[in-house]
Parts: sequence; C-alpha cells; structure tokens
Amino acid sequence: MEKTVNIYLFGKQYSVPEDLTIMRAMEYAGYQLVRGCGCRNGFCGACATIYRIKGESELKSCLACQTKVEEGMYIATLPFFPLVKQVYDIEKISPTQQIMMQLYPEIYACVGCNACTKSCTQGLNVMQYIAYAQRGEFDKCAEESFDCVMCGVCSSRCPAGISHPQVAMLARRLNGKYLAPKSRHLEDRVKEIKDGTFTQLIEELMGKPIDEIKELYNNRDIEK
Ligand code: FES
Repeated sequence: MEKTVNIYLFGKQYSVPEDLTIMRAMEYAGYQLVRGCGCRNGFCGACATIYRIKGESELKSCLACQTKVEEGMYIATLPFFPLVKQVYDIEKISPTQQIMMQLYPEIYACVGCNACTKSCTQGLNVMQYIAYAQRGEFDKCAEESFDCVMCGVCSSRCPAGISHPQVAMLARRLNGKYLAPKSRHLEDRVKEIKDGTFTQLIEELMGKPIDEIKELYNNRDIEK
C-alpha cells in the first residue's frame, strides 16, 4: 500500500502519496496548474510556495517543484509577487552607487532583519547582496545573487519593501555590461554561429536523444 500524508492546500485537507513534490501533490489533488508552474526543475522561480507544519510556528518557503510533501503541511502558493521593477536603458546608465539611490532607494531602508536571507528558496545570502548593492559593489552583488530564480519570496517577507531580485538583476546587468572583462573569443564564437559555421553541428545535436544530449552537456569542456 502506498504511504500517504495529510496536507492542506489553501486550507482544504488532502491525503496524498508521501513521495510527491508539492507541485505533483497539487495535481494529484485535482489542481490544474496554469500559473505557478513553469520549468518543473527549480530554475524558473514560478512555483514559490509558503507553508507551515501543523503545530509549528515557523513559516517556511520553498519551490513547489523541488520540495516533498510532509505530514501536516499547510500550503499556499505565490504564483506572482508584485516586485518594483524600474525601467532603465542599460546603455545610458553607469555602474555608480548613485544609480541604486536613483532607481531602488528603498534598499537604504533595510533594517537588517535578515528575513530575506532566511526565506530564500535558493539559500542565498540575500541581505549580503543587498549590502553590496548599497555600496555600489555590483560585481560582488552579481556573484552573490547569481543563483536567484526571482521567485519573490524574499520581497514578500521584507518590512522595508525592497524588491531584492530586481536590485540583483540590475547589479548583474551593470556587471555584465561595464565591469566584467569582455570575452573576445565569445564574441568571435557568436559571430561564427551567426555566419552559420555550426549550423550542421547544431542540427545533428538537436536530432540526438535527450539523454545523450545531457551526457554531452555534463561532460563538456569548461574553460577556466
Ligand atoms: S516550476 Fe520552475 S522553479 Fe518550480
């Protein structure tokens, strides 16, 4: 007999197989996921979820596609979180501390509660990368925030109203555009692709079974 656990989706109780992820459990319970579901592999950040285990006080957060159900889980999903997203022309701004003051001044209202870091579904040191952004250290902010999937949970817990993922995105763009060294051979390679040098190779690759492609990807040469 399949072992089951009791979970609560938006307050309604369901008994589901214990080895399911929250996302699969929702589908098992009859939900058809239109929003709040994308890559199903922990990359797109569409499935941000908060939950509390019955009897515990801590409110936890996770990605529904990456987290197994547990007995007594009270679950609510967060398919969209209204982040502040400023519009700017990357060609017209420069990597100075002033640009953060101008576009995302709320980062200077951080109270240091660390709720962002504690709630990050990727285990990132979010408060630290905001500190780097405050100081205009965009290369460090870019590095620290690199694995952000923009799920928005950090912002949902922030008393200062900071939109951390968007701040980090700006830092990564500034870093990529102005600070990180230019990769000459990458530019050459992009040109070669545009010129069709690899068209046949790419078509051959696309015809291979997915497992073989994964194998090739996992064993690719990575330049230091
Ligand atoms: S569905 Fe993309 S991260 Fe979960």
